Amino acid sequence: MQQQLENYIDVNKKLIYDELVQHLDKMPIPNQLKESMLYSTEAGGKRLRPILLIASFESYSDDKKFVLSTAAALEMIHTYSLIHDDLPAMDNDDYRRGKPTNHRIFDEATAILAGDALLTYSFEIISNDPLLTDQQKVVLLKMLAQASGPKGMVAGQILDMEAENHAVSLEQLEEIHARKTGELIKFAITAGAYIGGASTEQLEYLGEFADYLGLIFQVQDDILDVTGDPEKLGKPVGSDEGNHKSTYPKLLGIEGAIKKKEQYVEKAKTALQQAMADDSYLMGLTDYFSKRDS
Ligand code: IPE
Ligand code: IPE
Ligand code: MG
Ligand code: MG
Ligand code: MG
Repeated sequence: MQQQLENYIDVNKKLIYDELVQHLDKMPIPNQLKESMLYSTEAGGKRLRPILLIASFESYSDDKKFVLSTAAALEMIHTYSLIHDDLPAMDNDDYRRGKPTNHRIFDEATAILAGDALLTYSFEIISNDPLLTDQQKVVLLKMLAQASGPKGMVAGQILDMEAENHAVSLEQLEEIHARKTGELIKFAITAGAYIGGASTEQLEYLGEFADYLGLIFQVQDDILDVTGDPEKLGKPVGSDEGNHKSTYPKLLGIEGAIKKKEQYVEKAKTALQQAMADDSYLMGLTDYFSKRDS
């Protein structure tokens, strides 16, 4: 089962990589901008969000060609969020996806613009997809704008910065994590299932599943920032401590953070059963990503 899951991840990672490069390569844009966009995109990463989007689609349908461009668009938005997250004005990190951060290779202005470009290009990609209906495009573009914009990931990023240097409650931390990380993961799950034809009721349970998955993912990110191996992670550890961030380990201790994560895993799995998607890869991916070390 583990081997089957790892193969699934590898096969989809390759498809996502090809889809990303195909969209970026064909763009007639200034060289420096293209290089900077390609640098962070090609550097890789786990491709968690597009893999989840594909797995969610495949819980209800087949022929994943219908979701590849949406999956690539989502990964572009995630990559933009990382480029900006690493900037000196934000987390000020020098290492990402096993390489120097974008602004370390290019200049800060180019890194900012590469992020802007990945963000806006992602919407163009969905709107150009000939395999989606106009109705699907409008729904997906709205979902993606909400997940990534001022009510979603961007809101989470500013709440994260505002929570530096002071203590927050568990509820406040859940809110920060839900927005800065959970929203894009929720888009992955709900957009995939929507294109796959899930019912309204199934989409509701999947939304609940995704809320827990987002928390699981960011709690593990916080834990790894304390206990992880920078070589495996491809990014530095101790960044949160250095930036006086509010994190799960800081609030609950490492043991407490692990316990909390396990509670979220149980709740996520229950919601997945209710969405009738518990025999899909989403179940295995939940365990896989909650125990990840990279
Ligand atoms: C890092 O995301 C930022 C968070 C939201 C925790 P990932 O851990 O998915 O980063 P990559 O895509 O694998 O590099
Ligand atoms: C970043 O959270 C979340 C987004 C980029 C939206 P972190 O700041 O914890 O991510 P890492 O640890 O730098 O990957
Ligand atoms: Mg950050
Ligand atoms: Mg960061
Ligand atoms: Mg982190």
